[in-house]
Amino acid sequence: MKITMIGSGYVGLVSGACFADFGHDVTCVDKDAGKIEALKAGRIPIFEPGLDGLVAANVAAGRLAFSTDIATCVREADVVFIAVGTPSRRGDGHADLSYVYGAAREIAENVSGFTVVVTKSTVPVGTGDEVERIMRETNPEADIAVVSNPEFLREGAAIDDFKRPDRIVVGLDDERARAVMTEAYRPLYLNQAPLLFTTRRTSELIKYASNAFLALKITFINEMADLCEKVGANVQEVARGIGLDGRIGPKFLHAGPGYGGSCFPKDTLALVKTAQDYDSPVRLIETTVAVNDNRKRAMGRKIIHAVGGDVRGKRIAVLGLTFKPNTDDMRDSPAIAIIQALQDAGAAIVAYDPEGIDNARKLIEGVDYADNAYHASEGADAVVIVTEWNQFRALDFTRLKTVMKAPILIDLRNIYRPEEVARHGFSYTSVGRAD
Ligand code: UDX
Repeated sequence: MKITMIGSGYVGLVSGACFADFGHDVTCVDKDAGKIEALKAGRIPIFEPGLDGLVAANVAAGRLAFSTDIATCVREADVVFIAVGTPSRRGDGHADLSYVYGAAREIAENVSGFTVVVTKSTVPVGTGDEVERIMRETNPEADIAVVSNPEFLREGAAIDDFKRPDRIVVGLDDERARAVMTEAYRPLYLNQAPLLFTTRRTSELIKYASNAFLALKITFINEMADLCEKVGANVQEVARGIGLDGRIGPKFLHAGPGYGGSCFPKDTLALVKTAQDYDSPVRLIETTVAVNDNRKRAMGRKIIHAVGGDVRGKRIAVLGLTFKPNTDDMRDSPAIAIIQALQDAGAAIVAYDPEGIDNARKLIEGVDYADNAYHASEGADAVVIVTEWNQFRALDFTRLKTVMKAPILIDLRNIYRPEEVARHGFSYTSVGRAD
C-alpha cells in the first residue's frame, strides 16, 4: 500500500515511520525544504525516543522516503494522510485550519484513481465535511473518500502508542475507504487493537472529548492537591484510593504544576469554542482551562512562599523546563509561567533541562542556563523541580546541599518522599502533601 503523509511534523513523522515499519510504502512530504533535506540526511528535527532508529531502519529498507514534491506523491498514493498543524488561531482560540484546507486543495489537484484522504490532524467537528467540499469543488472528477482518523500519541512514548494503541478510531461513510483503512492498520488489527468505525463527525469529536476528559482529570486531582494541603491530607494516597475504583482508573491522577504541551491547552480551548458556536457550552472544560491557566502562575507564588515570602535578589535553580519529560517540547510548559512569576518577583533564574534548553531560549528571556542539575544549583537559594526527568529522581542530596546557598527544595512533581529529603536537612515543599 502506498501512503503519502502530508506534514512531516511530530504526528506525520511518527505515523509515517510506524506505517513504513508495518511494511507499507510511505513518503513523508513537507513544504519546508530545509526539513526534508535534514530528514534525507538522517537528521530528525524533533526529540522522540526511538524515532531516529525507526526512521533510519525503514529508509534503509526502502519503505520510507521524504519529499517536497506533493503532486507526484499524491498522484501515486492509495492513501493520503493530512498531518499538518492546527495551531490556536491568534485572537480567538479556534483551531486554525488554513493548513488543512490548503493541503485539501493541493491533494484534489493531484489525485489519480480512487484515493482515501485521511485527516490525522486534530480538527473540529465538521472539518472533514469542509475538506470534502473543498476537494469536490477543486476537482469535481476526483474519486475520493474523506476519512477522520485522529491520533492519540503521547510525546515521549509516541512510537509505543502508535504500535500498541488502546484503540484506533476511524470515521467514514464509504465502504471502499473502510477496506483501505483496515488494510493500513492490519498489523495492529491482527494484534486485536480495537478498530472503532464510526461517522466522521463522531470520530472528530472523540479526539477532543478524549483530550478534554484527560485535561479535566488532571485538573481535578490538582484541585484535590490544593485541598489536601489545606486539610492535612496526602494527594497521592487520595489518587490511589480513588484510582483503584475501576470506574475511575489510576492513570492521569498525578498532581503537578498543571498540564501543558502541544495538545491539551490547544484542544480544550478549541472544544470550548466549538461548543459555544453550537450553543452547547461545555462549562466543565471552560473551568478546566481557567483553573489550569491560573495554576501555573500560582506555582510561582507557592515557590516564593517556600523560600520565605520574598525572592527579590535571590537565585532560584529550575530543574526541568519542558512540559513533561522525554521531549524537547516547551509549548505551554508550566515552566514558562512559573519562571515569569519568579522573575516578576525579582528572582534570578538559572535553569537546566536535558533536552529543552534550545527551545526554552526562544521563549523565556533573562534566564542563565547550566549544563547539569548541580551546576544549576550552585549558590542557589532554592531548587525547584518542574519536570520529572529521570535524572532528577536520584539527586545526590549531599552534593546538592554543599553547592547550594540554602537547602530548600520545591518538588512540583512529587518525585521524592518528604522524610527522605528532610533526612538530608532540606526544607521540602511538594504538591498536595501536607509538609
Ligand atoms: C496528550 C495525550 O495524552 C495524547 O493522547 C494526545 O494525542 C496528545 O496530547 P501529550 O501532550 O504528549 O499527549 O502528553 P501527556 O503525557 O498526555 O501529558 C500532558 C500534560 O499533562 C503534561 O504537561 C503532563 O505533565 C501533564 N500530566 C499528565 C499531569 O500533570 N498529570 C498526569 O497525571 C498526567
